[in-house]
Amino acid sequence: MGFSCLVLVFVVQQLFGQSSAYLLIHGEPTNYVSAVGDPGMTNPNVRVALEAWNFCNEVGFEVPNVGSPRWADCTDLYCSSDSVYLGGGLVNNGSQCRVLHKVNETDNRLGAGDKFPIMGFESYADPDLFAKEKELYLGSLCEVQESPNPWQFWMIMVKNGNFDKNTTLCPENGKKISKIVTDRNFPCFGEGCMNQPVVYHKYSMLGGNQKVYLTGEFNGTYDLDANLGENVGNNSFFSVSWRKNTSTGSWIFSHRLTTSTKYPWLMLYLRADATEGFNGGYHYNGRGMLKKLPESPNFMVRLTLDIKLGGGPNSQFYLLDIGSCWKNNGEPCDGDVLTDVTRYSEMIINPETTSWCRPDNLVSCPPYHISPTGEIIYRNETDQFPYSAYHLYCSPGNAKYLEKPYDICDPYSNPQSQELVQILPHPEWAVHGYPEKKGDGWIGDRRTWELDVGALSSRLYFYQKKKKKKKKKKKKKKDTTEISRLMQINSYLFIA
Ligand SMILES: *[C@@H]1O[C@H](CO)[C@@H](O)[C@H](O)[C@H]1NC(C)=O
Ligand SMILES: *[C@@H]1O[C@H](CO)[C@@H](O)[C@H](O)[C@H]1NC(C)=O
Ligand SMILES: *[C@@H]1O[C@H](CO)[C@@H](O)[C@H](O)[C@H]1NC(C)=O
Ligand SMILES: *[C@@H]1O[C@H](CO)[C@@H](O)[C@H](O)[C@H]1NC(C)=O
Ligand SMILES: *[C@@H]1O[C@H](CO)[C@@H](O)[C@H](O)[C@H]1NC(C)=O
Ligand SMILES: *[C@@H]1O[C@H](CO)[C@@H](O)[C@H](O)[C@H]1NC(C)=O
Ligand SMILES: *[C@@H]1O[C@H](CO)[C@@H](O)[C@H](O)[C@H]1NC(C)=O
Repeated sequence: MGFSCLVLVFVVQQLFGQSSAYLLIHGEPTNYVSAVGDPGMTNPNVRVALEAWNFCNEVGFEVPNVGSPRWADCTDLYCSSDSVYLGGGLVNNGSQCRVLHKVNETDNRLGAGDKFPIMGFESYADPDLFAKEKELYLGSLCEVQESPNPWQFWMIMVKNGNFDKNTTLCPENGKKISKIVTDRNFPCFGEGCMNQPVVYHKYSMLGGNQKVYLTGEFNGTYDLDANLGENVGNNSFFSVSWRKNTSTGSWIFSHRLTTSTKYPWLMLYLRADATEGFNGGYHYNGRGMLKKLPESPNFMVRLTLDIKLGGGPNSQFYLLDIGSCWKNNGEPCDGDVLTDVTRYSEMIINPETTSWCRPDNLVSCPPYHISPTGEIIYRNETDQFPYSAYHLYCSPGNAKYLEKPYDICDPYSNPQSQELVQILPHPEWAVHGYPEKKGDGWIGDRRTWELDVGALSSRLYFYQKKKKKKKKKKKKKKDTTEISRLMQINSYLFIA
């Protein structure tokens, strides 16, 4: 079976941001191959999907009349004359072009139990199973044939961080349990708090003035009783819209996320998922944008990020979030949720985020740090360990040989055990193109980042069963993932 992997291009929490991005893999330093289906994001056609996850990355229950929480906007632009194309997906005269939606409202509204309109896709009454099949179906409508591998869409993911401990919807470190007993706190206003959102879709259409391009939007709320007009009021709200930059032709994705009293912890990501195989934190085969799986140390990510508004000290914002999956013995994941482990690494750039890893709190630090020259510095070497380079580290719940002191990552917010390395701007990471200090790249400091993600990832500690010590991290597919749940740990912070 495939393994996992998706790159999160960036993640937004409770704030507004815009970005455009791509990801490169290199063999030789000057010899780049794009891993994403649309290098430089210059394609005129739209390939965007949206998925919604409950606390443990499943569906649980669909919202009546909304369908299964998988939607797509896959839109092609056809122009009658080549002379109108300006490059980068821009055209100078939209009246010579027509717009074709490859996914229509009937497709987007499919819900558990519905028959798929074409052969080859199985319907399920179980909303979790139906959603993963719907993603494959939408992928088939959106697929762009390209040699050697096809690709499907960018994936927007929204996740509701509410968790009702009275239910058995979520397993514990991958194990199905009949009752949840934990003293961890999670937000939940009462029965039904783990609902999926209502989603509105502005199908891509022609926009722009002198230069014309496709533009569209998904938005929605978790507050099912909200009557959203133009005015969001005090309701939860998320929105992702896309349009072209009229000078570069690159896609600009604009994100907005707002929590509410009932939904104090929400997550919004834009992801480049693998086109095949499991994505980090998700135990079903998915669809995406990455035709090749990036492997450390040879991959770079280039993206422009312009943050408009922050969400306060209790919100995180990832410059980049990577989610991947491998077992504690180093083998690739195979869908066995008891032994698979999702690994996340995230660079948080909200300057209000503090370091939980401190000399007096080693439990939130990785056992050691690897310096740029490869030197290993243990967390108890207090005059050398760069505590402020880490927000927190936590260990997988199914690890058997953990070094004390340790903290187990939240056992409920992924279908399997997870491990999390959250880092902060610091000179230790700046050598790879990452922010050097708090505030770098934050509001008013729009930047184009060229991140040597592969090199940095090779320096992050991830748990591996001791025993026969394999040669250092052979296949650290740490590439990517969706990180999402990393915030689980902070969940309680979101309750104002
Ligand atoms: C755009 O194309 C239409 C139809 O071919 C034509 O009538 C119109 O003059 C063109 N407009 C511009 C600004 O070129
Ligand atoms: C969507 O497309 C399918 C065929 O691809 C068609 O049967 C259906 O009527 C369309 N629905 C809408 C709302 O256009
Ligand atoms: C869970 O059950 C307890 C005991 O019956 C109850 O007090 C609590 O309100 C329930 N919580 C939710 C979220 O329904
Ligand atoms: C959400 O999207 C719908 C459909 O495009 C749009 O009519 C509505 O104005 C948007 N809501 C907000 C608050 O922007
Ligand atoms: C939102 O909440 C604030 C504070 O509770 C309140 O003053 C305000 O009237 C509310 N706004 C709306 C539109 O309900
Ligand atoms: C478009 O790209 C150019 C060049 O990178 C940049 O200066 C400009 O601000 C971008 N426009 C928008 C709306 O982001
Ligand atoms: C520091 O940690 C290392 C690795 O866990 C251990 O071998 C060493 O004894 C510790 N040193 C001190 C001073 O505690």
